[in-house]
Amino acid sequence: MAERIEVSGSYRNLKQRGQAQISLDGKDYAFPVVEGSEGERAVDITNLRKACGYITLDAGYQNTGSCISGITYIDGEAGILRYRGIPIEQLAEQASFVETAYLLVHGVLPKKQELRDFRNLLTANSMIHEDMLTFFHGLPRDAHPMAILSSMVNSLSIYYPEVVSEEDSDEAELNIAMARLISKIRTIAAFSFKKSVGEPFVYPSNYTYCANFLHMMFSTPVQKYKLNHVVIRALNQLLILHADHEQNCSTSTVRLVGSSKVNLYASICAGICALWGPLHGGANQSVIESLEEIRSNNIPVKKFIEMVKDKNNPRRLMGFGHRVYRNYDPRARIIKNTCGEVLGYLKRSDPLLDIAQELEEIALHDDYFIERKLYPNVDFYSGIIYRAIGIPTNMFTVMFAIGRLPGWIAQWKEMHNSEPFNIGRPRQIYTGPTVQDYIPISAR
Ligand code: ACO
Repeated sequence: MAERIEVSGSYRNLKQRGQAQISLDGKDYAFPVVEGSEGERAVDITNLRKACGYITLDAGYQNTGSCISGITYIDGEAGILRYRGIPIEQLAEQASFVETAYLLVHGVLPKKQELRDFRNLLTANSMIHEDMLTFFHGLPRDAHPMAILSSMVNSLSIYYPEVVSEEDSDEAELNIAMARLISKIRTIAAFSFKKSVGEPFVYPSNYTYCANFLHMMFSTPVQKYKLNHVVIRALNQLLILHADHEQNCSTSTVRLVGSSKVNLYASICAGICALWGPLHGGANQSVIESLEEIRSNNIPVKKFIEMVKDKNNPRRLMGFGHRVYRNYDPRARIIKNTCGEVLGYLKRSDPLLDIAQELEEIALHDDYFIERKLYPNVDFYSGIIYRAIGIPTNMFTVMFAIGRLPGWIAQWKEMHNSEPFNIGRPRQIYTGPTVQDYIPISAR
């Protein structure tokens, strides 16, 4: 194992930058100002309520730092994303997904032997427990793959109950549990696809991570899937680009659920459920559905743009906008290029790509999008690559989950090692009725 860097989210990793004065009810209070390694500053209000009886109100956590983390850095204004300090562009170009997963989970890039050992651990843990197949057999054919994925991941705690929590397991046990998840999620995803098309399950083989997934998805007992390097590279890249994104909805969910000290599998299951929503990871499915709608109903692209701008119309331009990025999402830029490469190599054209490009072109020059700083996000072009590979639309969010898994695990691990460790428990401002008497039913 490589020399470990300090990965825990500890107050010790923060620089002290003086104090912020807050005046409340005529009294002055001082709170520490802290700074991270990239110069981001925060007022540490941990003791605000204790000192003066107030809490802060920040619905949707738009301005709240929920943890101290050394995993992923984003500068949304500049369009920068780095894992453990390494720019996403370098990882997408040069690294493999497995290497990236190791980097996120262990904090450093693996040396050759470490990477070999990690790959072997993934291969050794790629099969799912045979008894789990009874679950698959009982599922309806049209079950949503995200429902299957979340249920199956949670059920890993039934079949592999030994890992209860970070503190109750030693490092070797935890490494196996993490490898189990990273490896088996692929198998579960591919089996759910086979179930939906009524084909026999294809067991994992001794291929590399992405090749193995494609094999389980598309090989049949009568025909082996023909692996090709462009598709494998594109898949690797997509998974790397999705591997972590600091405190987004699903990652915060993993941390919050995990902070009750529930087991790793249950925490990851919660993250998968959070990812499913169309405002988060489910957007990649919604993008393709919108593009299909435009194509099949011959909706002029300009008219569609007017529809998503109309405040009386609830629809949005899916795959556009981001809570953190106020610039082009760096992941979308890379995916857009890869999209062209994959379609070119497979000698395919996709009318949805033309529609997406036209939408982007119009939106980027439209005042509504310019004023609100809305740009394509990671989901805008990813679905077009998945379609070209043959992955059905309702599995796009599953692909996102496979990619995001190492990030969730790294964040779960970091959260457990954080100092101080606290269960996640926000407060609220109550606006319901003040005290009132119970009225018996006969008198209501
Ligand atoms: N289409 C049209 N208008 C939009 C869009 C969009 N995609 N996104 C934001 N807006 C508008 C809002 O209507 C709002 O306008 P207003 O100020 O006139 O009321 C303004 O831009 C700000 O939007 P918010 O919803 O306040 O921004 P927030 O940061 O809370 O939401 C979100 C971010 C949820 C991603 C939003 O941009 C959105 O719904 N996008 C479409 C769904 C999507 O692509 N999600 C994937 C995000 S990436 C990921 O999770 C992996």
